[in-house]
Amino acid sequence: MKIDGIPYRTLWLAKDGVTVEIIDQTRLPHHLHVVSLTTVEEAARAIKDMWVRGAPLIGVTAAYGMALAARAESGDEALKQAAALLMSTRPTAVNLRWGVDHMLALLLPLPADQRVEAAYKEAARLADEDSDLCESIGSHGAKLFAELWKKRQAEGAKRLNILTHCNAGWLATIDWGTALAPVYKAAEQGIPIHVWVDETRPRNQGAALTARELNWAGIPHTVISDNAGGHLMQHGEIDAVIVGTDRTTADGDVCNKIGTYLKALAAHDNNIPFYVGLPGPTIDWTVRDGVKEIPIEERSSREVTHIAGRDEAGQVVTVQLTPDGSAASNPAFDVTPARLVTALITERGVCAASRDGLAGLYPEHAK
Ligand code: MRU
Repeated sequence: MKIDGIPYRTLWLAKDGVTVEIIDQTRLPHHLHVVSLTTVEEAARAIKDMWVRGAPLIGVTAAYGMALAARAESGDEALKQAAALLMSTRPTAVNLRWGVDHMLALLLPLPADQRVEAAYKEAARLADEDSDLCESIGSHGAKLFAELWKKRQAEGAKRLNILTHCNAGWLATIDWGTALAPVYKAAEQGIPIHVWVDETRPRNQGAALTARELNWAGIPHTVISDNAGGHLMQHGEIDAVIVGTDRTTADGDVCNKIGTYLKALAAHDNNIPFYVGLPGPTIDWTVRDGVKEIPIEERSSREVTHIAGRDEAGQVVTVQLTPDGSAASNPAFDVTPARLVTALITERGVCAASRDGLAGLYPEHAK
């Protein structure tokens, strides 16, 4: 995707061929700040402190973290310790485990002196693959949007209204995004698309990241408070909801940013399609019941009690919202049961959110 006409990915290698560069997403939307990662500890910090966020980007950053680790020390023990460090950063997005396990499985059987080169090569391949998977999600999702638009246009609509929650655009992946890829593809095809952007408290991924990238892409959008979606649905202002996911179970339950479940309930009550865009590595074939089995990250209560923004002098400041002494709780994700999901949009096509639906697209995992 482009920023001011310049093509960007969310992560790339510096000219030295070994340093990993990322956009520090905690500085968005107000500053585009690039950070260099030279050690696995720095990669782990970038994931834990949310300089990078979004399941696919977390997975690829972890893969590069393993390459940085191999560069420092490529023995079995060092790689296993690096893997444990990366795995300890964030518990919910399954792409983290996928990226780390994948790199360990590749590197450990190799002689130590071949590991660094192999690690960088594979991390680069995973980054390219993520971009390709997301672009395919975009193509499949855009077909659904085109059908929806045809219907809405016949009813006299002037634009196709899509609601999204959190950040599942290119900033959450290597490129294109998951939930936003169909939006970008539909816009390319000339569909007059408008996105309602949930601000997504407490970390405001919608207001800060989704709005920022839609703004860069010139896609019409409107930021709304997280509580506005149900009302807009009741008044015919939303034609479809599309979100990303941090982990989807083999039975089609969708774990995503906190508040997603409430949007799915409201969409169900209003007969509005609720879609989820996801690449294969976000499916956790080892779990079935998302509510019972997926660990939900509990983040700092300070993310609820405080908020950061730009003041009138242009300085980014943090202020306290709540009274001293009030407790706050901050579960970062929730699970939307498969029965509330109209369809899953993957790189292999669109399927029902069910064991059979997913098994049809990924027969190699069906057993
Ligand atoms: O906690 P974050 O910012 O990493 O959470 C991001 C989300 O929940 C995204 O919506 C999700 O990862 C989908 S990724 C395309």
